[in-house]
Amino acid sequence: MTVQTQTLRTVAGIVNSVETLEGAGFLVRRPFPKSSFSYFDPFLLLDELGPVNLKPGQAKGAPDHPHRGFETVTYLLDGRLEHKDSEGHTGVLNPGDVQWMTAGAGVVHSEMPESEFTRTGGRLHGIQLWVNLPQRDKMMAPRYQEIAAERIPVAQTADGSVKVRALAGEALGAKAVIETRTPIIYLHFTLQPGASVVQRVPPAYNAFAYVLDGSGLFGSEEETGNDGQMVIFASDGDEVVITNPATAREPLDFLLLAGVPLNEPVVRYGPFVMNDAAEIEQAIADYQQGKMGRIYA
Ligand code: FE2
Repeated sequence: MTVQTQTLRTVAGIVNSVETLEGAGFLVRRPFPKSSFSYFDPFLLLDELGPVNLKPGQAKGAPDHPHRGFETVTYLLDGRLEHKDSEGHTGVLNPGDVQWMTAGAGVVHSEMPESEFTRTGGRLHGIQLWVNLPQRDKMMAPRYQEIAAERIPVAQTADGSVKVRALAGEALGAKAVIETRTPIIYLHFTLQPGASVVQRVPPAYNAFAYVLDGSGLFGSEEETGNDGQMVIFASDGDEVVITNPATAREPLDFLLLAGVPLNEPVVRYGPFVMNDAAEIEQAIADYQQGKMGRIYA
Protein backbone atom coordinates (compact mmCIF):
# COMPACT_ATOMS: atom_id res chain seq x y z
CA MET A 1 0.00 0.00 0.00
CA THR A 2 1.29 3.46 -0.85
CA VAL A 3 0.61 6.22 1.60
CA GLN A 4 0.41 9.70 0.04
CA THR A 5 2.01 12.26 2.29
CA GLN A 6 2.31 15.97 1.77
CA THR A 7 5.39 17.74 2.96
CA LEU A 8 5.77 21.42 3.65
CA ARG A 9 8.64 23.26 2.00
CA THR A 10 11.21 25.08 4.11
CA VAL A 11 12.59 28.52 3.27
CA ALA A 12 15.89 28.63 1.37
CA GLY A 13 16.46 32.37 1.66
CA ILE A 14 15.07 35.89 1.97
CA VAL A 15 16.00 38.46 -0.68
CA ASN A 16 15.72 42.22 -0.20
CA SER A 17 14.60 44.43 -3.06
CA VAL A 18 16.78 47.18 -4.44
CA GLU A 19 15.25 50.46 -5.54
CA THR A 20 16.10 51.36 -9.11
CA LEU A 21 14.95 53.82 -11.76
CA GLU A 22 13.36 52.34 -14.87
CA GLY A 23 12.09 53.74 -18.17
CA ALA A 24 11.88 57.53 -18.23
CA GLY A 25 12.68 57.63 -14.49
CA PHE A 26 10.07 55.84 -12.39
CA LEU A 27 11.06 54.10 -9.21
CA VAL A 28 10.68 50.33 -8.89
CA ARG A 29 11.51 47.85 -6.12
CA ARG A 30 13.35 44.87 -7.59
CA PRO A 31 14.37 41.68 -5.76
CA PHE A 32 16.02 40.41 -8.98
CA PRO A 33 17.91 40.69 -11.23
CA LYS A 34 20.85 42.25 -9.46
CA SER A 35 24.58 41.57 -9.64
CA SER A 36 24.48 38.86 -6.99
CA PHE A 37 21.26 37.23 -8.20
CA SER A 38 20.56 37.35 -11.91
CA TYR A 39 17.52 35.09 -12.30
CA PHE A 40 15.37 32.46 -10.62
CA ASP A 41 14.66 29.93 -13.36
CA PRO A 42 12.27 30.33 -15.22
CA PHE A 43 11.78 33.90 -13.89
CA LEU A 44 14.08 36.68 -15.13
CA LEU A 45 12.84 39.81 -13.35
CA LEU A 46 10.31 41.04 -10.83
CA ASP A 47 9.57 44.76 -10.48
CA GLU A 48 7.12 46.38 -8.11
CA LEU A 49 6.14 49.78 -9.45
CA GLY A 50 5.01 51.93 -6.52
CA PRO A 51 2.73 52.08 -4.71
CA VAL A 52 3.13 55.80 -5.17
CA ASN A 53 0.75 58.75 -5.05
CA LEU A 54 1.51 60.84 -8.10
CA LYS A 55 0.84 64.53 -8.47
CA PRO A 56 -0.81 65.81 -11.67
CA GLY A 57 1.64 65.52 -14.58
CA GLN A 58 4.17 63.55 -12.55
CA ALA A 59 3.60 60.02 -13.94
CA LYS A 60 6.39 58.59 -16.10
CA GLY A 61 6.52 55.45 -18.20
CA ALA A 62 8.72 53.38 -20.48
CA PRO A 63 8.76 54.80 -24.04
CA ASP A 64 9.41 52.61 -27.12
CA HIS A 65 11.70 49.65 -26.37
CA PRO A 66 12.06 46.09 -27.72
CA HIS A 67 11.84 42.62 -26.18
CA ARG A 68 12.89 39.21 -27.56
CA GLY A 69 13.06 35.72 -26.14
CA PHE A 70 10.74 35.89 -23.12
CA GLU A 71 7.37 37.05 -21.78
CA THR A 72 6.48 40.23 -19.90
CA VAL A 73 3.56 39.98 -17.49
CA THR A 74 2.05 43.24 -16.26
CA TYR A 75 -0.39 43.12 -13.34
CA LEU A 76 -1.84 46.49 -12.48
CA LEU A 77 -3.15 47.05 -8.95
CA ASP A 78 -3.84 50.82 -8.99
CA GLY A 79 -3.78 53.52 -11.66
CA ARG A 80 -4.07 53.21 -15.43
CA LEU A 81 -1.40 52.25 -17.98
CA GLU A 82 -1.51 52.54 -21.74
CA HIS A 83 0.48 50.42 -24.14
CA LYS A 84 1.18 50.48 -27.84
CA ASP A 85 3.28 48.14 -29.93
CA SER A 86 4.80 47.36 -33.29
CA GLU A 87 2.03 44.87 -34.08
CA GLY A 88 -0.44 47.78 -34.15
CA HIS A 89 -1.85 46.71 -30.80
CA THR A 90 -3.02 49.34 -28.28
CA GLY A 91 -4.86 49.11 -24.99
CA VAL A 92 -5.38 50.47 -21.50
CA LEU A 93 -4.83 48.48 -18.32
CA ASN A 94 -7.14 49.25 -15.40
CA PRO A 95 -6.76 48.10 -11.77
CA GLY A 96 -6.76 44.29 -11.54
CA ASP A 97 -6.11 43.77 -15.27
CA VAL A 98 -3.32 41.51 -16.52
CA GLN A 99 -1.39 41.70 -19.76
CA TRP A 100 0.62 38.56 -20.51
CA MET A 101 2.79 39.43 -23.53
CA THR A 102 4.79 36.69 -25.20
CA ALA A 103 7.45 38.74 -27.00
CA GLY A 104 8.86 35.70 -28.81
CA ALA A 105 10.88 36.79 -31.88
CA GLY A 106 10.39 40.45 -31.08
CA VAL A 107 8.06 43.26 -30.16
CA VAL A 108 8.70 46.99 -29.83
CA HIS A 109 6.31 48.54 -27.35
CA SER A 110 5.70 51.47 -25.04
CA GLU A 111 4.27 51.24 -21.54
CA MET A 112 3.05 54.63 -20.38
CA PRO A 113 0.64 56.03 -17.80
CA GLU A 114 -2.71 56.67 -19.49
CA SER A 115 -3.00 60.34 -20.52
CA GLU A 116 -6.00 61.22 -18.34
CA PHE A 117 -4.38 59.48 -15.34
CA THR A 118 -1.19 61.46 -15.98
CA ARG A 119 -3.21 64.67 -16.05
CA THR A 120 -5.08 64.01 -12.80
CA GLY A 121 -2.41 62.05 -10.92
CA GLY A 122 -3.35 59.41 -8.33
CA ARG A 123 -2.15 56.16 -6.86
CA LEU A 124 -0.05 53.94 -9.13
CA HIS A 125 0.88 50.38 -8.19
CA GLY A 126 1.81 47.54 -10.50
CA ILE A 127 3.90 44.44 -10.93
CA GLN A 128 5.98 43.38 -13.88
CA LEU A 129 7.29 39.84 -14.12
CA TRP A 130 9.53 38.46 -16.87
CA VAL A 131 9.09 34.77 -17.63
CA ASN A 132 11.75 33.10 -19.75
CA LEU A 133 10.76 31.16 -22.85
CA PRO A 134 12.25 27.74 -23.59
CA GLN A 135 14.66 27.60 -26.54
CA ARG A 136 11.94 26.10 -28.77
CA ASP A 137 9.67 29.15 -28.23
CA LYS A 138 12.14 32.04 -28.24
CA MET A 139 11.48 32.92 -31.88
CA MET A 140 7.72 32.25 -31.87
CA ALA A 141 5.30 34.84 -33.22
CA PRO A 142 4.41 37.45 -30.56
CA ARG A 143 1.20 36.81 -28.65
CA TYR A 144 -0.93 38.79 -26.19
CA GLN A 145 -3.33 37.65 -23.54
CA GLU A 146 -5.18 40.59 -22.07
CA ILE A 147 -7.37 39.63 -19.20
CA ALA A 148 -9.68 42.20 -17.63
CA ALA A 149 -9.92 42.15 -13.83
CA GLU A 150 -13.41 40.59 -13.87
CA ARG A 151 -12.07 37.60 -15.85
CA ILE A 152 -9.35 36.79 -13.31
CA PRO A 153 -10.81 33.99 -11.17
CA VAL A 154 -11.15 34.90 -7.49
CA ALA A 155 -11.79 32.50 -4.61
CA GLN A 156 -11.96 32.82 -0.86
CA THR A 157 -12.40 30.64 2.18
CA ALA A 158 -15.86 30.39 3.77
CA ASP A 159 -14.95 32.88 6.48
CA GLY A 160 -13.35 35.27 3.97
CA SER A 161 -10.02 35.27 5.81
CA VAL A 162 -8.07 34.03 2.77
CA LYS A 163 -8.67 35.47 -0.68
CA VAL A 164 -6.82 34.55 -3.85
CA ARG A 165 -6.73 35.82 -7.39
CA ALA A 166 -5.47 33.15 -9.81
CA LEU A 167 -3.44 34.71 -12.64
CA ALA A 168 -1.84 31.36 -13.51
CA GLY A 169 -2.37 27.93 -11.95
CA GLU A 170 -5.05 26.97 -9.48
CA ALA A 171 -5.90 27.79 -5.84
CA LEU A 172 -8.93 27.27 -3.56
CA GLY A 173 -10.81 25.92 -6.58
CA ALA A 174 -10.12 28.98 -8.77
CA LYS A 175 -8.51 27.97 -12.06
CA ALA A 176 -6.67 30.56 -14.13
CA VAL A 177 -7.71 31.39 -17.68
CA ILE A 178 -4.27 32.53 -18.87
CA GLU A 179 -2.28 29.99 -20.87
CA THR A 180 1.44 29.68 -20.16
CA ARG A 181 4.14 28.15 -22.41
CA THR A 182 5.64 26.17 -19.53
CA PRO A 183 3.96 25.33 -16.20
CA ILE A 184 3.64 28.52 -14.12
CA ILE A 185 1.79 29.37 -10.91
CA TYR A 186 1.00 33.06 -10.29
CA LEU A 187 -1.32 33.67 -7.34
CA HIS A 188 -2.16 36.86 -5.46
CA PHE A 189 -3.17 36.09 -1.87
CA THR A 190 -4.64 38.35 0.80
CA LEU A 191 -4.67 36.91 4.34
CA GLN A 192 -6.47 38.57 7.23
CA PRO A 193 -4.73 38.58 10.64
CA GLY A 194 -4.73 35.05 12.06
CA ALA A 195 -5.30 33.40 8.66
CA SER A 196 -3.11 30.71 7.17
CA VAL A 197 -2.99 29.08 3.74
CA VAL A 198 -1.45 25.85 2.50
CA GLN A 199 -0.95 25.84 -1.26
CA ARG A 200 0.12 22.88 -3.36
CA VAL A 201 3.30 23.54 -5.36
CA PRO A 202 4.73 20.36 -6.95
CA PRO A 203 8.40 19.69 -6.07
CA ALA A 204 9.53 20.22 -9.70
CA TYR A 205 8.60 23.92 -9.45
CA ASN A 206 10.95 26.66 -8.27
CA ALA A 207 8.81 28.75 -5.94
CA PHE A 208 8.93 32.10 -4.18
CA ALA A 209 6.66 34.60 -2.50
CA TYR A 210 6.92 38.38 -2.84
CA VAL A 211 5.38 40.47 -0.05
CA LEU A 212 3.33 43.41 -1.35
CA ASP A 213 2.03 44.60 2.01
CA GLY A 214 2.23 43.53 5.62
CA SER A 215 4.46 40.93 7.18
CA GLY A 216 3.99 37.14 7.25
CA LEU A 217 5.38 33.80 8.36
CA PHE A 218 6.61 31.61 5.51
CA GLY A 219 7.44 27.93 5.19
CA SER A 220 7.47 25.09 7.69
CA GLU A 221 9.89 26.94 9.98
CA GLU A 222 7.82 30.17 9.89
CA GLU A 223 10.46 32.59 8.61
CA THR A 224 9.39 36.23 8.68
CA GLY A 225 8.99 37.97 5.32
CA ASN A 226 8.29 41.70 5.16
CA ASP A 227 6.89 44.18 2.64
CA GLY A 228 9.24 44.30 -0.39
CA GLN A 229 11.01 41.02 0.40
CA MET A 230 11.19 37.88 -1.74
CA VAL A 231 10.96 34.60 0.15
CA ILE A 232 12.54 31.67 -1.72
CA PHE A 233 11.17 28.22 -0.89
CA ALA A 234 13.44 25.18 -0.93
CA SER A 235 12.50 22.35 -3.33
CA ASP A 236 11.94 19.97 -0.42
CA GLY A 237 8.19 19.48 -0.42
CA ASP A 238 4.98 19.71 -2.39
CA GLU A 239 3.15 22.38 -0.38
CA VAL A 240 3.93 25.84 0.94
CA VAL A 241 2.42 27.34 4.08
CA ILE A 242 2.01 31.05 4.75
CA THR A 243 0.48 32.68 7.83
CA ASN A 244 -0.51 36.19 8.80
CA PRO A 245 0.03 36.19 12.59
CA ALA A 246 -3.03 36.77 14.79
CA THR A 247 -1.22 39.75 16.29
CA ALA A 248 -0.92 41.48 12.89
CA ARG A 249 -2.65 44.83 12.50
CA GLU A 250 -3.11 44.61 8.73
CA PRO A 251 -3.83 42.05 6.03
CA LEU A 252 -0.87 40.23 4.47
CA ASP A 253 -0.79 40.75 0.72
CA PHE A 254 1.65 38.64 -1.29
CA LEU A 255 2.29 37.03 -4.66
CA LEU A 256 3.12 33.34 -4.88
CA LEU A 257 5.11 32.53 -8.00
CA ALA A 258 6.34 29.15 -9.14
CA GLY A 259 7.52 27.59 -12.37
CA VAL A 260 9.25 24.51 -13.69
CA PRO A 261 12.88 25.54 -14.38
CA LEU A 262 13.99 25.45 -18.02
CA ASN A 263 17.57 24.42 -17.15
CA GLU A 264 18.88 26.07 -20.32
CA PRO A 265 21.71 28.62 -20.70
CA VAL A 266 20.56 32.21 -20.05
CA VAL A 267 22.38 34.99 -21.90
CA ARG A 268 20.78 38.38 -21.36
CA TYR A 269 21.44 41.84 -22.62
CA GLY A 270 18.88 44.42 -21.48
CA PRO A 271 15.57 43.60 -23.19
CA PHE A 272 16.87 40.50 -25.00
CA VAL A 273 17.19 37.09 -23.30
CA MET A 274 18.54 34.24 -25.42
CA ASN A 275 20.60 31.04 -25.04
CA ASP A 276 23.96 32.21 -26.41
CA ALA A 277 25.95 35.34 -27.26
CA ALA A 278 25.50 34.96 -31.03
CA GLU A 279 21.72 35.05 -30.61
CA ILE A 280 22.03 38.26 -28.57
CA GLU A 281 24.14 39.86 -31.33
CA GLN A 282 21.50 38.78 -33.84
CA ALA A 283 18.75 40.31 -31.67
CA ILE A 284 20.61 43.64 -31.49
CA ALA A 285 21.19 43.63 -35.27
CA ASP A 286 17.56 42.71 -35.99
CA TYR A 287 16.32 45.50 -33.72
CA GLN A 288 18.69 48.07 -35.24
CA GLN A 289 17.58 47.05 -38.74
CA GLY A 290 13.93 47.53 -37.76
CA LYS A 291 13.07 43.83 -38.00
CA MET A 292 11.15 43.96 -34.71
CA GLY A 293 8.99 46.69 -36.23
CA ARG A 294 8.24 50.15 -34.94
CA ILE A 295 5.35 51.96 -33.34
CA TYR A 296 3.26 54.18 -35.60
CA ALA A 297 1.59 56.89 -33.56
FE1 FE2 B 1 8.53 46.38 -21.96
